[in-house]
Amino acid sequence: MKRIQVIDDEAFICKTLKEGLTDIGYEVKTSLTGENGLRKIESFKPLIVFLDMRLERVNGIDLIERIKKIDEDIEVVIMTAFGDIETAVKAIKNGAFDYINKPLDLEEINLIIAKALKSIEVKRKLNSYVKEKKLKDEAIIGNNPVMKEVFEKINIIAKNDVTVLIRGQTGTGKEMVANSIHKKSNRRDSSMLSINCGALPKELVESELFGFEKNAFTGAFKRKKGLLEIADGGTVLLDEIGELSYDTQTKLLRVLETRKFKRIGGVDDIEVDIRIIAATNKNLEKAIENNEFREDLFYRLNVVPIKIPSLKDRGGDVLILAKYFLNKYNKKFGKEIKGFDDEVKDKLLNYHWPGNVRELKNVIERITILHDTPFINLNHLPLEINKPLGEKTKDNEVKVSINESFSLEKEVEKLEKKYIKIALDKCNNNYSKSASLLGISRFALKRRIEKYF
Ligand SMILES: Nc1ncnc2c1ncn2[C@@H]1O[C@H](COP(=O)(O)OP(=O)(O)OP(=O)(O)O)[C@@H](O)[C@H]1O
Ligand SMILES: [Mg+2]
Repeated sequence: MKRIQVIDDEAFICKTLKEGLTDIGYEVKTSLTGENGLRKIESFKPLIVFLDMRLERVNGIDLIERIKKIDEDIEVVIMTAFGDIETAVKAIKNGAFDYINKPLDLEEINLIIAKALKSIEVKRKLNSYVKEKKLKDEAIIGNNPVMKEVFEKINIIAKNDVTVLIRGQTGTGKEMVANSIHKKSNRRDSSMLSINCGALPKELVESELFGFEKNAFTGAFKRKKGLLEIADGGTVLLDEIGELSYDTQTKLLRVLETRKFKRIGGVDDIEVDIRIIAATNKNLEKAIENNEFREDLFYRLNVVPIKIPSLKDRGGDVLILAKYFLNKYNKKFGKEIKGFDDEVKDKLLNYHWPGNVRELKNVIERITILHDTPFINLNHLPLEINKPLGEKTKDNEVKVSINESFSLEKEVEKLEKKYIKIALDKCNNNYSKSASLLGISRFALKRRIEKYF
């Protein structure tokens, strides 16, 4: 529940606001004096404070500053007598979010609250490496039985507020699945925030996750809330969880067990109501064996595992996805490409797709941008997909005869030479590209070229 605090020396105003705002779903605390108000703010941690400007003994402007010192993110809405524009302007100059005239109108108050909440949300996001996922309603495409099992799991998990561990190679759609779970869950109206544990250094991961108190370390000029706190009520995606340091894993374990943590440099426990989804493409079992990943954390996370298959193991889904992306990019770039030649379909089906769905998506996007053609043919495919090697041909069924002058070494060399020549031709003699096409290092290619040519 979103918390609002009212500070007004008129008991009637406190009572009316408390009743009115509680009725529409806020948690409200009231204070009749400024001092009492400040004390309550410390423990109650409201998002918004409604502050009467004409309190006895304290100056309203001072009070705004003192509230902001407790937590800069709190939005203060001042209540002024009708027509007292001067006070209102002064208050806003001194950090108040907005003002409202007395007598109070609940509808107007409601609008101001909505505006203030929005502003808090925007500020928090700007102030952070944490990114809110663009939760577009992107469909997860797939017909393969294993994918259908994934879909079923998503539906069940969405409705049960459990921790989820999503596993799969890069580009298989882990983030998409996490989004889908959040969107279908009861938390859908709150945010889903994600942090890439592998992209930030350890200290930064912790300050992003847990936040910090003012002066917790050099440079901590003011208190900052962490992602776990900002996402309260919603979902947190911990991407690349396998990259978390052992220390941070220990802290995270406590969050999973108690839903409590401390800001860095803080003493008080902060309690949050969040669902945690973790994702990784790492072999966590192996990491556990190597003492890089805590086994207890693994079991906490792995309450419900989802394994997303690699694209090469999804059979005909490759073609369904290719067609889906083709339609998408046709629309986006105003093209009318109708489909794929049969040879192209074969190539797409036989390629090993190390970058999985993301790679396929990028390939189709590039082709759609670059070509105006009724059908995509072999020439439109990037080299790595259209390469002769790795292709399933009938070559291995060709009968070879071994006579007395046969030399295995010579035959292998001949084959190598042949393929290297093809690769160099295809890549305009660019060594790096040829090497990658052949699946060997540039160094290995150079050595062979020196030997054979
Ligand atoms: N089944 C699918 N249907 C449609 N689009 C998909 C599907 N799977 C993945 N995508 C698209 O592929 C891209 C990669 O997906 P996503 O970012 O979810 O993968 P990931 O597993 O999180 O990758 P990484 O390990 O690199 O973080 C996204 O643009 C996503 O929209
Ligand atoms: Mg991802």
